Amino acid sequence: MTDRNFKVWRGDADSGEFIAYQVEVGEGMVVLDAIHRIQTEHANDLAVRWNCKAGKCGSCGVEIDGKPKLACMTRLSDYDPADTVTVQPLKTFPTIRDLVTDVSWNYEQNKRIAPFRPGSPGPDGQHRMQQEDVDRVQEFRKCIECFLCQDVCHVLRDHGKRDRFVGPRFMIRIASLEMHPLDVEDRVPATKSEFGSGYCNITRCCTEVCPEHIGITDNAIIPMKERVVDRFYDPIAWLLRKLFRSQKT
Ligand code: SF4
Ligand code: SF4
Ligand code: FES
Repeated sequence: MTDRNFKVWRGDADSGEFIAYQVEVGEGMVVLDAIHRIQTEHANDLAVRWNCKAGKCGSCGVEIDGKPKLACMTRLSDYDPADTVTVQPLKTFPTIRDLVTDVSWNYEQNKRIAPFRPGSPGPDGQHRMQQEDVDRVQEFRKCIECFLCQDVCHVLRDHGKRDRFVGPRFMIRIASLEMHPLDVEDRVPATKSEFGSGYCNITRCCTEVCPEHIGITDNAIIPMKERVVDRFYDPIAWLLRKLFRSQKT
């Protein structure tokens, strides 16, 4: 066991400051363990949201040394023992108290996306899908809604364009529905207008922080941007759609 130094942001929606704490840590401990030890030994009113402690519920997202991470999956051994580890709430969302933020805006975005709408079954009454189509959307289902990608996206974080861009997590949701082989809803016009796909400049910061290693930018956002370009900016595709009355690309 060794003593380690932490600076934890304490405060509420109106004001706050970093408070220094020192606790003993042992081998294998993660940042969430240290926060719990700080609660036990120094500050039993320190607010932190967590649930599974297994990287699966997505609730313990914080910024550790300025980077969005899951507190329960970030080992203290990743940091130099001589350095102070800084823990603060996700910057993109309003702070409720200490390390807990109000992420309800994200749930509102989810409600805006048209849900799955299956087409007609085949002549035998069955819906069928190719395995490669299943595999393509399966990756997106791994999302644990930790919103680390939403936190790091500069469109939301630095430019505050929440009214224009739905964010990477919900570009994934749109892609998972649009690429679903049985879905017949058309979300491409809304992807361009209401959901603001054009605001993403494919910096891949969201992909870098995703704890589930989802290819957010390359596998979801870029294909959706391509569909928007094909629909609205490709004159040949536009003409073919007019001739064949096809809606979904
Ligand atoms: S790639 Fe797009 S969605 Fe992801 S962080 Fe960059 S701007 Fe945001
Ligand atoms: S895509 Fe990754 S970073 Fe974004 S909410 Fe889902 S799991 Fe978290
Ligand atoms: S506590 Fe569930 S992901 Fe960290």
